[in-house]
Amino acid sequence: MLQQLLGESNYTVVFTGAGMSTESGLPDFRSSKGLWKEKDPSRIASINSLNQNVHEFIEFYRERVLGVKEYKPHQGHYILAKWEKQGIIKSIITQNVDGFHQQAGSKQVAELHGTLQKLHCQSCGKSYSSDEYVNRDYYCECEGILRPSIVLFGEALPEDAFQFALQESEKADLFIVLGSSLTVTPANQFPLIAKENGAKLVIVNRDKTDFDPYADEVINHKSIGEVLKELNNSF
Ligand code: APR
Repeated sequence: MLQQLLGESNYTVVFTGAGMSTESGLPDFRSSKGLWKEKDPSRIASINSLNQNVHEFIEFYRERVLGVKEYKPHQGHYILAKWEKQGIIKSIITQNVDGFHQQAGSKQVAELHGTLQKLHCQSCGKSYSSDEYVNRDYYCECEGILRPSIVLFGEALPEDAFQFALQESEKADLFIVLGSSLTVTPANQFPLIAKENGAKLVIVNRDKTDFDPYADEVINHKSIGEVLKELNNSF
């Protein structure tokens, strides 16, 4: 059915979560081996953790900033980039902060939760590249704390990414979720906004999600990459 929906669609928008990058080697958050199964996000991924557990915060994000450099986009990221060039999809709304969609060549990407590829000073706002994060021992010239330019729990989403995601969700006639548990608001509202605006909703995920009842099709599959490869071969 998804192949037929893609063929019939004039405006397909893709929404990705951490399940899009596990086949690149990065852990997701809520699966059995997910990041939040081992660590408490309120301790190390919230705005409070910057003030209360700064050393734990720095160690955790140093590992993630370095980790993202070790891994690369997989076939699924490249297929989505090819589909954008071919006009099969119009844009990607991602919760991921690894930058793999852009590295694979996708251009129309809304990073709802920011990116690990950039850092900024919590005090003065000065930006740094992720390479400098490691070399600067995590502090800004003004001695403020350097932090990844991602959205921490308790922070607002970047306005430009939010508005782009809203616009795309309202324009979509087909909205495909790839690899997300859809547990985090407000990101998980975009599939519903698309649905409310008349889009068909397809959820591709290894595990079930609370949004499955709203979907026109649910594909429970352990490999997003394989699903995209099979679809790509069918065109
Ligand atoms: N193929 C298919 N599905 C997969 C794969 C895979 N290779 N790997 C993981 N999944 C599925 C899991 O079944 C899981 O339901 O991807 C989903 C990932 O869900 P989460 O770990 O909750 O990640 P996500 O939905 O992206 O989390 C949203 O939470 O902590 C915040 O900011 C963080 O952006 C993140 C947000």
